[in-house]
Amino acid sequence: MRIIVSPDPVTTGAAAAHAVASAADDRPDLVLGVATGSSPQPLYRSLAILVRAGLDLSSATAFALDEYVGLAPDHPESYHSVIAREVTAPLHLDPARVHVPEGPAADAGAAAEAYERAIARAGGVDLQILGIGTNGHIGFNEPGSAADSRTRVVELAPQTIADNSRFFLDPAEPVPTHALTQGVGTILEARRIVLVATGGHKADAIARAVEGPVTAAVPASFLQRHPDVTLFLDDAAASRLSPALSTPSVNA
Ligand code: GLP
Repeated sequence: MRIIVSPDPVTTGAAAAHAVASAADDRPDLVLGVATGSSPQPLYRSLAILVRAGLDLSSATAFALDEYVGLAPDHPESYHSVIAREVTAPLHLDPARVHVPEGPAADAGAAAEAYERAIARAGGVDLQILGIGTNGHIGFNEPGSAADSRTRVVELAPQTIADNSRFFLDPAEPVPTHALTQGVGTILEARRIVLVATGGHKADAIARAVEGPVTAAVPASFLQRHPDVTLFLDDAAASRLSPALSTPSVNA
């Protein structure tokens, strides 16, 4: 695991964007795994600047990690909408090459299998962008998710529902309680993983993911088993790592 600590979220995002850009330079038909949430937003904004300066992602393919069950795709907070708004448009991706799990599908099991097959047909994910939940989840793999779990419907943890309630301000509209998510096993098959975490509220999850035991209680800890993971953290998210890891530097 490499850890790159930057002073603030914008610098963190810029550093992560350069890692993604250099992967795209090496392979124009890059298969990118994309995450929602606030953490990767500075990454996408920095990458959009590089795209406007000439980086060409039009041949890249993208797979989102997850989607809510029970939200129409055109709901502004569905991950179909979020990915279209925050990723596809600013990065000038080809919308036909951007995939999001079909959360509202009548047969969610079939939708999950179809998603796994689509990733396999694309040749697997070259570079997966990840955030992390305050409870250590990746995608929507909540505590208790197995290392070999695959794309499936999950029930969201109370902590996740509380964290996500900031996006659902209309009291008449409850926060979704279920999602279709790539599994931990699906995510770990990406050839390279870039995780972005910023803010003191992520410090405990990061410390447990990096220095704690590998356990289903902290799904992000399974990343310790992956051969090519880089964590891009700001000072606050790195603040509970042991001092040798949390200094603003690159650690092997
Ligand atoms: C959601 C997403 C995760 C994301 C997490 C953290 O739960 N499914 O992929 O990592 O939010 O979000 P944020 O970066 O906004 O804290």
